[in-house]
Amino acid sequence: MCLWTRLSAVVWASMNPHGIRAFAPGRANLIGEHTDYNDGLCLPFAIGAGVTVTATTRDGGEVVAPGLPDGDPYLRGAVAELRAAGVELPGCTLEVASDLPQKAGLSSSAALCVALVLALCGAAGTVPPETLELARLCSRVESEYTGAETGLLDQLASLLGRDGHALRLDMRTFDAEPVQLDLHGPVLAVLDSGAARTLAASGYNERRAECRCAAQLLGVESLRDALDGAGLPDPLDRRVRHVVSENARVDAAVAALRAGDARALGELLDASHASLRDDYEVSVADVERTVAACHEAGALGARIMGGGFGGSVLALFPPGRALPAGALPVTPGPGARLLC
Ligand code: GLA
Repeated sequence: MCLWTRLSAVVWASMNPHGIRAFAPGRANLIGEHTDYNDGLCLPFAIGAGVTVTATTRDGGEVVAPGLPDGDPYLRGAVAELRAAGVELPGCTLEVASDLPQKAGLSSSAALCVALVLALCGAAGTVPPETLELARLCSRVESEYTGAETGLLDQLASLLGRDGHALRLDMRTFDAEPVQLDLHGPVLAVLDSGAARTLAASGYNERRAECRCAAQLLGVESLRDALDGAGLPDPLDRRVRHVVSENARVDAAVAALRAGDARALGELLDASHASLRDDYEVSVADVERTVAACHEAGALGARIMGGGFGGSVLALFPPGRALPAGALPVTPGPGARLLC
């Protein structure tokens, strides 16, 4: 499955270059956290909310976005990366609108990058790069212009999202297998922990470095090839244990979805959280409080979602249960697209 099947050449060529609107959704990740940059498995889905960028061509060579802060790194990065890829950008004004809560672990920044790049390609009358290349370009915008390294989970989930489905992403082969996400009653919801993600970039980059180091010590290309972390010094052994066990949980979650077993899925969310808290050490006190509040409200399972060090919690609630205050139900929606 490929974005290009949706943005067909015919549709692209017939678009009005004076007012292109591109939409990119945020994403939730059902399970498979901190596995993407270890060539592992993830199970994200695009959600309904996202970022819309409208590009209107204008005289003069500049690309301006009055709604974004001066020197916005995402806009600078998107423009620079597209130019480096050989896209000749016309002068245009970009309007950015979003119904995604920011810094809540729903990948508002990846959605912004994807929407900016698609809208700019539209304004240039250029077919965007194919999906994987596009995801990598957007990931470079984040890592090189904001200093936050990212894997490709967020970008691929936003680009490849499919209505009613999660995606089993294999980050080694880049196979994306849609898995129906219909729990027949139980509700998935996201809760903001309220914790500012101040350590998010540095802590995330540190975990990546630890994984690289562990892989090197084990003599494997990436932790996807590791069997366990036995013999490694602490905390590297625990980092490996998280990655290996989380990959297994992704496939167990796919099986639970196929069997319609919400209880098993809830247990996997809890196990993922325990591993992220104890072995990967990316949880913080506010997240723990939020997870506990979900359990008190009767959740079948709850876990920290996204890069960690704050951000949001994903929880699964039984049918008909009153959700805790601030919980935002999330359902799988379609991926990034042009809005005609
Ligand atoms: C952030 C990154 C993703 C992924 C997750 C953790 O959201 O942007 O690439 O690594 O953290 O699973």
